[in-house]
Amino acid sequence: MESTRNKLIQLLADSSEKYISGQLLSDELQISRSAIWKHMKELEKDGYQIEGKSNKGYRIISYPDKLSENTIRWGLETNWIGKSIIHKESTTSTQHIAHDEARNGAAHGTIIIADEQTNGKGRMNRSWFSTKGKGMWLSIILRPKISPLQAPQLTLLTATVLADVLHSYCNVQPLIKWPNDILLHDKKIVGILTEMQAEQDIINYIVIGIGLNVNQSKDDLPEEISHRATSLLIETEKEHSIKALIQEILTTFEKSYDQYIKNGFPEIKQKWESYGFKIGEEITIKTLKDHFRAIFLGIEEDGALRIKRMDGSIEKLYSAEIDWFEK
Ligand code: BTN
Repeated sequence: MESTRNKLIQLLADSSEKYISGQLLSDELQISRSAIWKHMKELEKDGYQIEGKSNKGYRIISYPDKLSENTIRWGLETNWIGKSIIHKESTTSTQHIAHDEARNGAAHGTIIIADEQTNGKGRMNRSWFSTKGKGMWLSIILRPKISPLQAPQLTLLTATVLADVLHSYCNVQPLIKWPNDILLHDKKIVGILTEMQAEQDIINYIVIGIGLNVNQSKDDLPEEISHRATSLLIETEKEHSIKALIQEILTTFEKSYDQYIKNGFPEIKQKWESYGFKIGEEITIKTLKDHFRAIFLGIEEDGALRIKRMDGSIEKLYSAEIDWFEK
């Protein structure tokens, strides 16, 4: 059923502005003309505007901005990411679905997208506000043939992808706050959560969850986060198409991932550092044993923070509390 609809959309799309006759569609899809008509009605429910003329046939006038498996797929020119798409109007968390799907064998590049999450997950067991229709709540299933020790590189890669898309597609100036928050004007606009199922040497699967605040107004952001969170609407004073953003992100992600698999981490590291928040600046670091000031130099191959102490010694830090906004 689903694939017939997809083929139908494809045929209509291929004929571009021109009409395509009901008979031709029926021959191509090997279904009756009344079945074609029923599919057209379904597409209209999905928000496609379709014109049907009795002596000419059908043509698509406009594509919906509403998210669905079809609308996300339409115009998505990728080789492996988003070939399988699961879209939910509402779900607890796209991460939950992704884990279930991955355990059941979902392919590398499968994506799960929701209009709303009722129990969105953030890092360190925090929750993630995922208001209906206002943001991009996306999980990507990956099956990389890399060591589990390299997995943090994929989170850093994801941050660079988001920063690139925000910069070149939305014309804003993002910074990445270690390890992987994306900031605009010191406020968080993107959160990334990476979860992995692995054995000693092999990764069974990784789920990368990305939350991007898109069309929330200041009033839409919950009070407890409004002083440290922002959205594209707030920053650019205009609404953005979530569908177009998803497609842009997936396309950029695929390119970057393919390059990473081919060339390794150095290009990602360089890009990450070009967006790095407070790189070259003094920051205050609190670890279990210590509290000191140091210069933030950049990131390491394994995603650790590289710092220079005031005595000139260089260190790698994996977990530390940093007050990034302290002057
Ligand atoms: C963070 O704490 O900064 C990470 C937030 C990650 C949120 C995304 S939204 C899509 C995916 N589903 C979830 O429940 N969480 C991630």
